[in-house]
Amino acid sequence: MDSPSVPRSMAGPAVGSPGAGRPPSPALDALLAAHFADGELVLPLLPTYATQVVALCSDPSSDARSLAQLLQRDPALAAHVLAIANSAALGAREKVVSLQQAIARMGVRQLASVALSIAVKTKVFKAGRHLERVSRLWHHSAVSGLFGREIARMRRRNVESAFLCGLLHDVGGPVVLQAVDEIQVATRCEFSAKEIEAALTRHHAEVGARLVRTWGLPEWTSAAARHHHAPEAATECLDEVRTAHLADRLADFTEGTDDLEGIDGVLSALGLYEEDLDLLQQQVEQVRSAAEVYA
Ligand SMILES: [Fe+2]
Ligand SMILES: [Fe+2]
Repeated sequence: MDSPSVPRSMAGPAVGSPGAGRPPSPALDALLAAHFADGELVLPLLPTYATQVVALCSDPSSDARSLAQLLQRDPALAAHVLAIANSAALGAREKVVSLQQAIARMGVRQLASVALSIAVKTKVFKAGRHLERVSRLWHHSAVSGLFGREIARMRRRNVESAFLCGLLHDVGGPVVLQAVDEIQVATRCEFSAKEIEAALTRHHAEVGARLVRTWGLPEWTSAAARHHHAPEAATECLDEVRTAHLADRLADFTEGTDDLEGIDGVLSALGLYEEDLDLLQQQVEQVRSAAEVYA
């Protein structure tokens, strides 16, 4: 998949699959388009706490105490957040045992984005027929989120917004895979791995944009999801779109599927230089191990 418009991160191997070598299926493509257009697409919902967390973070008067109270209502979530706060990736030396301490260590915004990432993983990137593909996508998303954060840190911009741009850019992927499964059951057709991958490539960005808008997340998350493979097509939220594009490509670079050729335009649009790209590339191991925390 060499076209610049084709997402390399979505280009999974089809070697050995029944349909390897076949062209993408117009039948599956048409069925998916109809499935999405007819309102048959069932979008996963986020748990209530996740949307409340987003609302809380958009409220300038919100404080650590109200966030802790919100997260405490879900013990499994609270335990997960504490585990992340205590991870070596966050430079944890002394163990934190309460959410208030975790917030003191991570800050309200970082803790909120961690809580949102746990919700997205649980509700969207969940086990199903495509378990292996979805877990690869989740790892790619976590790495992209962490690179988004590094890009924003370098540019002295809001690091948590950039984290979410990276984390959510491919959020439509598992939803497309789920829709393919529903179509396979309804039509009794069995599509090849290559056909499914082509459908994923074609539809994930638009579906992801629709999904985050349904959740009530800010408009820039939707723009980042829609245009992350073609930032030049975006007309608004350009900073977030470009950050998502660069973070996505750096994640692909980490996975060995992108040599970052042609990245110069986006790099300079973000006010970054070749030396900055070198620094980001040097962070591959650090980012890869930090992503394990989100697994
Ligand atoms: Fe993508
Ligand atoms: Fe991606």
